[in-house]
Amino acid sequence: MTHDMKILMCPPHHYDVDYVINPWMEGNIHRSSRDHAESQWNQLYSVLKKHATIELVEPQKGWPDMVFAANAGLVLGDRVVLSRFLHPERQGEEPYFHKWFEDNGFTVYTLPKSLPFEGAGDALIDRAGGWLWAGYGFRSELDSHPYLADWLDVEVLSLRLVDSRFYHLDTCFCPLTDGYVMYYPPAFDAYSNRLIEMRVPAEKRIVVSEIDAINFACNTVNVDHVVVMNQASDELKAILSDRGFTVEETPLTEFLKAGGAAKCLTLKTIEPRQTEPKASSILSRVIRLEGHLLDSGIVNRALDVITTGGGSFQVLSFDLGMQRQDISVAEVKVTAPDISVMDDIMGQLIDLGAVSLPRESTPAQLDAVVQDGVAPDDFYVTTIYPSEVLVGDHWYRVQGQRMDGAIAVTHESGQLVARCKLLRDLKVGEEVVVGSKGIHTLRKAPSIKKGTDDFSFMGAGVSSERRVELVVEQIAWDLRRIRDRGGKVVVTAGPVVIHTGGSEHLRKLIQGGYVHALLGGNAIAVHDIEQSMMGTSLGMDMKRGVSVQGGHRHHLKAINTIRRYGSIANAVEKGVLTSGVMYECVKNNVPFSLAGSIRDDGPLPDTKMNLIEAQADYARLIEGADLILMLSTMLHSIGVGNMTPAGVKMVCVDINPAVVTKLSDRGSVESTGVVTDVGLFLSLLVQQLCKLTGEYALVK
Ligand SMILES: NC(=O)c1ccc[n+]([C@@H]2O[C@H](COP(=O)([O-])OP(=O)(O)OC[C@H]3O[C@@H](n4cnc5c(N)ncnc54)[C@H](O)[C@@H]3O)[C@@H](O)[C@H]2O)c1
Repeated sequence: MTHDMKILMCPPHHYDVDYVINPWMEGNIHRSSRDHAESQWNQLYSVLKKHATIELVEPQKGWPDMVFAANAGLVLGDRVVLSRFLHPERQGEEPYFHKWFEDNGFTVYTLPKSLPFEGAGDALIDRAGGWLWAGYGFRSELDSHPYLADWLDVEVLSLRLVDSRFYHLDTCFCPLTDGYVMYYPPAFDAYSNRLIEMRVPAEKRIVVSEIDAINFACNTVNVDHVVVMNQASDELKAILSDRGFTVEETPLTEFLKAGGAAKCLTLKTIEPRQTEPKASSILSRVIRLEGHLLDSGIVNRALDVITTGGGSFQVLSFDLGMQRQDISVAEVKVTAPDISVMDDIMGQLIDLGAVSLPRESTPAQLDAVVQDGVAPDDFYVTTIYPSEVLVGDHWYRVQGQRMDGAIAVTHESGQLVARCKLLRDLKVGEEVVVGSKGIHTLRKAPSIKKGTDDFSFMGAGVSSERRVELVVEQIAWDLRRIRDRGGKVVVTAGPVVIHTGGSEHLRKLIQGGYVHALLGGNAIAVHDIEQSMMGTSLGMDMKRGVSVQGGHRHHLKAINTIRRYGSIANAVEKGVLTSGVMYECVKNNVPFSLAGSIRDDGPLPDTKMNLIEAQADYARLIEGADLILMLSTMLHSIGVGNMTPAGVKMVCVDINPAVVTKLSDRGSVESTGVVTDVGLFLSLLVQQLCKLTGEYALVK
């Protein structure tokens, strides 16, 4: 009888457990019975013969696992991608399978030698969508997936395996007729589970128990509505039967000793190509990445964003810059299961600097604001990168670029204006960009040259202690250049600057003309004034390092004194405050802004307890900054980071690496993190500036 389905098998004449390359083989070396294996294999053969035409590849002595024909390669239409086995124990099977495919008229594709991929053991065609579920994590490499997508012209969804018992995808995942998927979720990482859940509707997902999973229920051969497997629990059989499947069990315990069962022992050699995926909501967009893609890791991050966001990708082209200074260009096709996943991925790609190709550009979608201070649903959330928006057939540069805003499109004096606005500032009647179409961000490629004006020295890196001195040299160099050309440096500082003895150094920086605005909270000013008036910081004698009796009240006394005079500036003018960081700000006309917080004592009369006013004041002082030095205040530094557009260099100094990483990790290539004691940092910085200017003190 002829069948529509053809299955390749390899008789078990040389099968044995001769080595250990998966957890199932442990303790089973030479423990399987050849006779028993032959009879189980023959029984499987007879069962399958009822549903498919069986073809055979000749087994070879010395290659015991050749019986697992699923790992011969991956067939789609008349093409096959030959396996590249990870373990040398199986690599000798490759030429025999290669010959069989060639003899049977397939076009054979071979991967580079160092790129493992284990055929249909790790790649399964979805029976409804036509895409390829491809596993990686143990045997096959993720890097092999783009080759599969390219050679077989198929959409690839990568799934990461995390449980070594389920080392091949077909041990824990089985796409079935009518779009069902039978699988064991704990075998996959969280992202892969999410991807499965996004692609396969809940009613089509058949989750198996651990018992069924270790009995290799997912290692099933499915032909039409028949599923052939080693063993299934009554519960699983009932579920499958409810969904219209007939379960045929055939014991394969001898092969379980080597980590395989029904599906591993077979390879479907008829896999018709589905040209158009049936799932109609699947969307594709082509993005273009440009810059020092490899050096900056943008490519990896972009592909990560796509797969972790629930999409898949196909690299259409990749022109690698030939010289170190050359830029590279990549075109990547992004596919997502629906519009919301696509928008989410695109939003993140835009943050990375991925740009839609102009030919794909459709105008931005606008939606009206119907309530003051509230954006329409799905509004586009802005990033720190300069952006343009396509309205009608014109691109408009977004003004007032900052993170976490919305793009409002308005008419001002007859001109269309796109402006970045905070939600609270949106007004009824304005239109706001929704979705992610028609947005273009301009991201400067990170410099890789040394000795330029850029912070190329450290890139967006986070330094360790041993590198601090080198970083300080670079920062001193930049401060000097910015000051000398009339640029602007803003300092954000927390009270730790005072506690660690950094005050005298910060003072010198202000006196030396290196600071053009100071931002902080109540505390930096309170502790500075306490130190200046009473010689203590939080009650500790700063010179002797011991607590002073009654010292714990000193900071309140300092606050009280300033309150009496109405402001810090008045206290300076009246000769009450005669030294310190705040004194120097007043004396040197360096504007400062103190933003309030719930934990503030007093507060000082200068501290702005209306946070909206405080944010506006910070934004005013940050405007035009070339460099922001963030000194040991997580609260104020994050606040400042959020309102700073790309292009402003940021240096974040904190003793806690997590804080530094958080601040440096805004995708901004201009940020540098320094993990160190802020007092030490400031003292090194002043020393270095003295060296640069050839003076013993910054100010004589
Ligand atoms: N008396 C007061 O009114 C008072 C006192 C304290 C804080 N506050 C207010 O609370 C808010 C948050 O205060 P904050 O900015 O101090 O706290 P924060 O937690 O935001 O930041 C302090 C940072 O300093 C880091 N740090 C600690 N020791 C360090 C060292 N030796 N060198 C380098 N970094 C070090 C920490 O890791 C942390 O990230 C501010 O608005 C502040 O004004 C008020």
